[in-house]
Amino acid sequence: MEIKVLGGNSNRDLMVGICEELGIEITKHSVSRFSDGEIFVQIDESVRGDDVFIVQSTNPPAENILELLLLGDAAKRASAARITAVIPYFGYARQDRKDKPRVPISAKLMAKLIESAGFDRVLTVDLHADQIQGFFDIPVDNLYATPIFKKYLLSEFPMGLNPDEWIIVSPDVGGIKRARTIAEKLWNLPIALIDKRRPKPNVAEVVRVIGDVKGKNILLIDDIIDTATTISNAAYALKEEGANRIIIMATHGLFSGNAIEKLEKCPAERVVVTNTISQRYDLPSKFVVLDISQFLAEAIRRIHRGGSVSQLFL
Ligand code: R5P
Repeated sequence: MEIKVLGGNSNRDLMVGICEELGIEITKHSVSRFSDGEIFVQIDESVRGDDVFIVQSTNPPAENILELLLLGDAAKRASAARITAVIPYFGYARQDRKDKPRVPISAKLMAKLIESAGFDRVLTVDLHADQIQGFFDIPVDNLYATPIFKKYLLSEFPMGLNPDEWIIVSPDVGGIKRARTIAEKLWNLPIALIDKRRPKPNVAEVVRVIGDVKGKNILLIDDIIDTATTISNAAYALKEEGANRIIIMATHGLFSGNAIEKLEKCPAERVVVTNTISQRYDLPSKFVVLDISQFLAEAIRRIHRGGSVSQLFL
């Protein structure tokens, strides 16, 4: 069974990078539109009996999800032996419970759709909440991007970060577990957090900084930057509390609305994200986009050989 890699339109560059890392050609396929806008996909070479990996993030537009599902269905009907959805950014993950009357559990619905399309496994990066894995009855490998960030930090600070000078800050209470896990991997840095209340979706209000950040350098860490309200408010609050340098790090840079402008203005000196989301525009020089194709390629190689994926996090 050979590895075959293909994908929709969400992450073409990442798909190309993964294939280069694996030393294989992209499996010939097309993803196009009928004249009314309906999506048409076709796999243009045999995948019978193969180990197929379909690379597609499910951020908006919703066509991204549909392309993933249609490619999965096409691979299934073409008798692929195993089909893995490689979803660098798993969209609709933020609605993972019914916390108000008459709202959907979107993450669960996404999981059901992916399974119904015929996928056998999911490989994703920094799921918004680990428990989303439980919405699937197929194996889910959730990679943490920490090794990518650590490599970047080591390129900037070859001696590592001194725990007496640097502190990891979560911009909200929900991110504290993530911050703690990352801190363990990053020189056991101490952690602090922002007590944020959100009156309605996409509106973040900083309440207070919990922890002593005065005179410290900050790694401000989140999984997602969407409107950048959460993270930029956190950066201002930290500055007010006397923080020194601030570096923002988030796995998924959605950058909706005027997020880029907000981040440009905010007191962080750098904004580091990965390419789980393809950026439509050139980003200002304050931004760094880290390439995760090598990381995903290695995970694909290990899944194919039946090796351990968790070893990648060590
Ligand atoms: C929330 O729980 C997430 O971890 C992020 O903090 C949130 O999605 C960021 O959204 P925004 O950038 O719109 O404030």
